[in-house]
Amino acid sequence: MTTKDNLIESAKTVLNSNFDEDKGFTIPCEGLYPFQWNWDSGFIAIGFAHYNTDKAKREIEALLSAQWENGFIPHIIFHNDSDTYFPGPDFHLSKLHPLASKSHRTTGMTQPPVLGFVLKELYDIVEDKTDILNFIKTNIDKVYHNHEHFYTHRDPNQEGLAFIYHNWESGTDNSPIWDDIWDTMNPPNYKFERRDTTHVDASQRPTNREYDYYLHLIEIAKEHHYDDAKIAELSPFLVQDPLFNAMLIKSNAALIALYEIIGDAADKISQLKQWQTKAIARFNEKLFNEKLGAYVHYDLRNEKQIEHVSSSSFAPLFADIPDEARANTLVETMTTKFGSENRYLCASFDPDSDRFNPKKYWRGPVWINLNWLLYKGLKSYGFYDLSNRVKEDSITLIEKYGFYEYFDSRKEVTENAGYGGNNFSWSAALLIDFLKS
Ligand code: GLC
Repeated sequence: MTTKDNLIESAKTVLNSNFDEDKGFTIPCEGLYPFQWNWDSGFIAIGFAHYNTDKAKREIEALLSAQWENGFIPHIIFHNDSDTYFPGPDFHLSKLHPLASKSHRTTGMTQPPVLGFVLKELYDIVEDKTDILNFIKTNIDKVYHNHEHFYTHRDPNQEGLAFIYHNWESGTDNSPIWDDIWDTMNPPNYKFERRDTTHVDASQRPTNREYDYYLHLIEIAKEHHYDDAKIAELSPFLVQDPLFNAMLIKSNAALIALYEIIGDAADKISQLKQWQTKAIARFNEKLFNEKLGAYVHYDLRNEKQIEHVSSSSFAPLFADIPDEARANTLVETMTTKFGSENRYLCASFDPDSDRFNPKKYWRGPVWINLNWLLYKGLKSYGFYDLSNRVKEDSITLIEKYGFYEYFDSRKEVTENAGYGGNNFSWSAALLIDFLKS
């Protein structure tokens, strides 16, 4: 077997061992993340699609089985009990919301909406088009309903941009972006027992004080029964995130393409196109920062841009949001700030910033899912050298260190440069896609 075949086989072993045959979903990583996570499942399904369509379908079905009646898809589905993770279902108490899933305990927050484009990836990957199209036909309206929820309940000014009310909704949990928001808050010191630091070295995880902010935001949302309107009015964290909105926009485009293949959905296509036009225009007006040469987060509560460059700043390339000139600017920023020869692409936060930390979770390390999005985005604009570099760096990091959750971007660190959880599912799933594409 070639090295490539070996790597693919190892990736399959990781995925298969994290898959729960009985309940039909994949944990991101044993111990550290023992339930089903929303965007993880999307990336995982892409990996499965290359060798086991049945598992890819079950993964998506398991996630959608916990969709709320209002279209909301939660960030964690607690299919099972586990005492290795905090905060669990008894803390989140999703049933406080009147339309929450009756069959599953979940959180009351969501994650970047990847399902639309994941369905399109499945369609492109799986060989039996009739079979996969039948699956898509059964599920696509649920994803549409989810988008409808965002545009109706997460966009109070009707701008075409959805807000997030918690850093865990961004997927980039402890990014230094949020430090500016933490400065506006003063939560109590909660008494709680962390579980993550029993699995992973504390230097690679958020601090206890950061957890106070995280829990406090949930307490506020719970006090108002996870009502989006109340959250929009009261939450100290209210952000329009370029990664989150790029995922939504990419998923809109994928739903349009799939409905066109399926036929007979003119109303939905027309609605999606309306959302899409408005969203892309506003995204470009509001989330681009000329001085930094990059897209940034917008703090909707305090009505200002958060002026930092992170890997999320480049995600709009994946969703065809920038025009050619702006795409060139983004590439220039990525190359000069993140792309020196002694670094792997792409650090999750600006390596020139004093907030950069090469080992700490989303404060600097390289993440494979962001790399996958950037690879696809750069390639679609014709930046072949840079896209290949992102792909090759991703493969090299996994080959050298294993299927870690995140990696050191500094090439001079040559030992133990994989951090966080090991045998991490989306690193395995997306490696398969990198090697097969
Ligand atoms: C971490 C990541 C998040 C991911 C989760 C499960 O919380 O920040 O993006 O979904 O782990 O893997």
